[in-house]
Parts: sequence; C-alpha cells; structure tokens
Amino acid sequence: MILIKRIITLLIILPCSFLSAQNQLAIPSTLTGTTFNLSIQTGTVSFFNGTTTPTYGINGAILGPTLVVNKNDNVVLNLTNNLPVNTTIHWHGLHVPAMMDGGPHQIITPTNTWSPSFKILNNAGTYWYHPHGLGKTDLHVSKGIAGFIIVHEPFEASLGVPLTYGVDDFPLVIQTKAFDVLNQIAISTEMDTAILVNGTYHPNLDIPAQIVRLRLLNGSSMRAYNFGFSNGMNFYQITTDGGYKDVPVQMNRILMAPGERVDVLIDLSTLNGQSFDLMSFASEMPNGIYGSAMVGVAPDTIMGYSENHLNGNDFSILQLNVVNPTTNPITTIPSALVPFSPYSPQDVNATRIFEFDTITTLPGMMPNLAEGQFGINRKVMNMDSINVRIPLNSTEIWTLINKTHIAHPFHIHDMQFNVIEKNGTVPDVYETGWKDVVLVMPHDSVKFITKFTDFSDEMTPYMYHCHILHHEDDGMMGTFIVYDSTNSLKIKEQGNFSIFPNPAIEEWVVKSIDQIDFGIIEMTSISGQKVALNFEKTNFNKELRIDARKLERGYYFLKVKVGNSIQILKLQKV
Ligand code: C2O
Ligand code: CU
Ligand code: CU
Repeated sequence: MILIKRIITLLIILPCSFLSAQNQLAIPSTLTGTTFNLSIQTGTVSFFNGTTTPTYGINGAILGPTLVVNKNDNVVLNLTNNLPVNTTIHWHGLHVPAMMDGGPHQIITPTNTWSPSFKILNNAGTYWYHPHGLGKTDLHVSKGIAGFIIVHEPFEASLGVPLTYGVDDFPLVIQTKAFDVLNQIAISTEMDTAILVNGTYHPNLDIPAQIVRLRLLNGSSMRAYNFGFSNGMNFYQITTDGGYKDVPVQMNRILMAPGERVDVLIDLSTLNGQSFDLMSFASEMPNGIYGSAMVGVAPDTIMGYSENHLNGNDFSILQLNVVNPTTNPITTIPSALVPFSPYSPQDVNATRIFEFDTITTLPGMMPNLAEGQFGINRKVMNMDSINVRIPLNSTEIWTLINKTHIAHPFHIHDMQFNVIEKNGTVPDVYETGWKDVVLVMPHDSVKFITKFTDFSDEMTPYMYHCHILHHEDDGMMGTFIVYDSTNSLKIKEQGNFSIFPNPAIEEWVVKSIDQIDFGIIEMTSISGQKVALNFEKTNFNKELRIDARKLERGYYFLKVKVGNSIQILKLQKV
C-alpha cells in the first residue's frame, strides 16, 4: 500500500487545470420512516466538463440519501450490495449493538442484503454512514459512499433553530479527492486537490437572507479544514459530534478533522444580494495537521506534501449567494440549547492508555513518523484479536498519546465521550460536549471519559481507530468488546462438554461430560480462518488439552465430531 502510493503520486495532475464552471450544490435526497432500503451500487459522475468518472454510491451514483430518523424509533436498514466486491456500512456515531455496527466484521458480500435493526438512542444531531471494510475504507469512501444521518427529537422545534432540510438547514459533506490522469478516483496519494461538497465540484448555493444552519461534516479521507467565511463574519456552533451544545458558541474559525461534525448557524439577515465563500483558512492551521503548511520533521515528512497547493493555503470550499428570505424565517440566534451533563471522573472504574506510534509490519519498510505505518499500543488491526475487554457499564478514562509527527483524529465506535484534557489543560469550548472523534496533535495527549452502556456481546467487537482512512486501512485500528460480567462463568458447558478455563490464557481442557469419545475436526477464528491446533489427548478420546499460548487474544470455534454429529464449541483466549 505504502509502496504503491509513491508511484501513483507521480501520475496525478492538478484538477485546477480542468476547465470548470460553477455548479449548483447537490443536496442529498432524504429518506424518512423506519424502514430504509439502500442499494450500494456503482455509477458514473461527470465531475468536470466533458469527462466521466466511475464511482460508488447508495441509491445513486455518488454519496447516499440522508436518513432522517427520530430518537427512540426502531429502524430496519436493508442494505443490498450491488458492488462487485465485499463492503460494509457503518453508522458513525450511533450507539448500536456491535452486531449492527457495520464494522469490518459485518461483511456484505456481492448480491447479498444485510438488514441490521436497532433503536435510535442518540441525541438529536448529525451523524453519518460510510463503508468500513478491512483495508478498504479509504477506497470505498473515496469512490463515493457516505451519507448523512439526521436524528431529530421533538424538543428541537422549541429551540428556535432552523430545521427545514434544504431550505434553512443544509447538510454539507466536505471531501477532497485525488483524480488521476484518466479522471479515475485515486487513493493512497497526497494529491487530494479536488474539493467537493455533497459530491459537487466548484459548488455554489443560493441561501436565504435569514438565520441558516449548515451541518458541516468533514467526510475527507485525511484532510482537516479550518472553516470560516470570506467576508469575515462570525458564526455560531450549536452542536458537537453527538448533539446540541448547551449554548451557541460564537466563533470565527472552526477546525474540523476527518469524521467530525459541527452544525453552525450563520446570520444572513442583512446580507441579501451578497456573495461570499465558505473557506478553509488552512494557512492558520497548526503544523502537524494534514492540511497545514507542514507535516513532520525531516527526514520524517510526507513525500510530495508541499506539491499539493491546498496544504497551508487558504481556499474556497463553497460559494454562497444570499437571496430573498423564506416566509417565517428564523431571525435570532437562540440563547440556550440543551443542558450538558458530562460524565464525572468520580465514577471512573478503569483508565486505559492508547499510544500511537510507528510500527513496521512490511518487510524492508522504514517506519516514518509522518507517514507511518502506524499502530496503536504497538499493534496493528487484527480481525481475530480482541485488544480491549470492557465490562458493561464501565465508566472509563482513555488517555491517547501521540508519539508521531502527524495529528491523528481518533474515533471510537459505540459510545460518545467527553474530552476532559488536551495536553494537560481543559479542552477548548468547541470540543466541550458529546464527541466521537478527537484530534490528537503530534507529541500531545488527550484524555476523554465515557461509559460503555446498554450493549454487550462477548463475540463481536467494536472498533477504535484513526479516521485518516489510509492510516486506518494500514492497521491503525483496534478492537474492543463490551462484556456482561454477570454472564461470564469460569466453567462453561457447551452441549455435553465442559471447557475449563474459558476464557483461557495458557490452555483449555475440553472434556466430554458423558465420557463419550469425540474427535476434533478443526478450529477457526471469528473471521473463519483455520487455526493451527496444538493439542494433547489426556483421557483417550474423552478429554483433551489445547495449547492457547501461541494464539491471538480473541474467540475461536472448535468443531468436534461426536458419533455422527458435529458440535461447535466456543473458546476464548485472553
Ligand atoms: Cu467513521 Cu470506524 O468510522
Ligand atoms: Cu464510527
Ligand atoms: Cu492517523
């Protein structure tokens, strides 16, 4: 992957050399109700004059419909994979059972339909969905798959905030992409020079002269943005990743890393007839963030980084043309939103440390502190291992320590968290609230607090990872399970077998309780991979000891033959 990247970089040309007119911003269509039928499919899009590009999308050629749901609804999503390849769809930010999460373990094979169902438990706010296949997230997101999830709650109507989709409430997914000389979407390159909003290149939007809400989603594979407006006006942040803030926060810039969402209000009441731009003021972005002027310290830098004219320079993202207000416009910024009651450090049951550092799993590759390969706690993602086991209802403080030269947006599935410390001090007000992504600056640390509630599953992991998608794909991802300790017995009987200890560190003793002869067929990991077995029969064919020492932590299925039937026993290595 890293080797290939170097070659592709040379083939990239700058999309600023394409002829391009202004295009009207596409607003994704909406789907409402509780059953959502989604077809993951291939398509083509004409981004630039005269050429077409093969893409992936959901129910269309690029991106996917906005799913508008209400808190406490029970929803069913029927996802049919009409791509020629395996993929997955993950509900980024939603609190759902691990089996429904759409991580790398919930693979949808071509022509098949996956139908997760869950209750919407999240606060009103802006969430999103995107593919999450092992090693394929960057490719499938870059090819075009991503969509908004908007959660509503009844109280929002009385907040005095814009809520009319496409009228005074606009979803904006900002993505930079790289195109090669044939206008094919390219990944694993730093030449992501084409700026797209909602899949539209060089977009403009007519926007009414009143208070308007922009739901900003950084859906880029790696680039961060330092949002602001070309006319210098202030704006008001009203949400973080996981819902409303307590009060609107007036600001002039907001830094957003990949995966993050922020809804802002802008007051256009006095600007009718004017045009201005949503910008990224990347020249003001601290070095070390992908998108700033410089990442890394020689010799640990990103090759070709300065050739991308977006890095460290201010650029326009979307042109806004202010037009006549709607009837009954919202004209004042609300003074209060939703009271915030964060988790309390007094309730903490466990603290854990996650160190980001370079790691080398590719022979002959030198680890580079700006480019990777990166791991978390000296490990790269392994589908069959469980990196962290968390008891249900555990309140935890996680400390993220970045030992590299590049800022990593860390994301955790399942839960929203509260950032409590950044480099030893309290976080900025814009990061106070419910979060599921936090940017960890180079050689800095971040602490957050969260509680793992509602869902436990001994067998199915959730992910935590860097949301720079090629870091994730290269292995900067780990797994955790949330287990219900009241269900864990030391000796587990499975059919007519006792397995002790289970979970095991060194070995399992598998015994036929009825003293019946049995034979082993095979052992497989969760992902179905056959595992080399090292065992010893200790009571003829009625008992055996399986060596667990060489196995990764995780779950295994032991297939045994008893008489004419086959039984599957679940073993856990810790
Ligand atoms: Cu937005 Cu695990 O991803
Ligand atoms: Cu996620
Ligand atoms: Cu990273």
